[in-house]
Amino acid sequence: MKFFIDTANLAQIKEANELGILDGVTTNPSLMAKEGIKGEEAIMNHYKTICEIVDGDISAEVLSTTFEEMVEEGKKLAAIHPNIIVKIPMIKDGIKAIKWFSDNGIKTNCTLIFSAGQAILAAKAGATYISPFLGRIDDSGWDGVQLIEEIAEIYSIQGFESEILAASIRNPNHIIRCAKAGADVCTCPLDSILGLLKHPLTDIGLAKFIEDSKKM
Ligand code: E4P
Repeated sequence: MKFFIDTANLAQIKEANELGILDGVTTNPSLMAKEGIKGEEAIMNHYKTICEIVDGDISAEVLSTTFEEMVEEGKKLAAIHPNIIVKIPMIKDGIKAIKWFSDNGIKTNCTLIFSAGQAILAAKAGATYISPFLGRIDDSGWDGVQLIEEIAEIYSIQGFESEILAASIRNPNHIIRCAKAGADVCTCPLDSILGLLKHPLTDIGLAKFIEDSKKM
């Protein structure tokens, strides 16, 4: 399973990248706004900087919602760096745009997936990645990981090639359950990635080894 970090914060991206386990980055308009990135030039420069930090797939989301505008915007985003993945919302024009990008050799990430039906459509259109938002599904009282399992089963039966990018991860347990459910990628906040490191018995064990090493 690949690990992406889900942020536009450069310090967090660098910290995750230094672990040596990072395969890519996902951003969205909310995450970009949180970092105070405003205006087309600043947005483009920010994506360029992220591409210079991480050698992996970097999702950059279109802000438009019509087919024509998404194609124009996506072409500009894709021109920033070969590792840019154009992130397109799961709407009717989005499906048309994903098909256009797929036919023209540009990689896409279909975002805001909340059902198996949407995952089937995005795969048919040729999305490189599809992003089910499992944390938001959990927040609404359903089980987000169950959706990952369902999509993984359908893709395996049908031979769909889109990669399942589990998004809206809230904690380390989500990552573990996604790995078991067959996600190809997990995009996670830095805290959830670092949470995988933690176990009290590791801390107790290490403290004892350090103490005993003084007797050696
Ligand atoms: C995915 O690419 C999105 O950026 C993200 O995972 C959304 O997560 P949230 O539900 O925590 O906003």
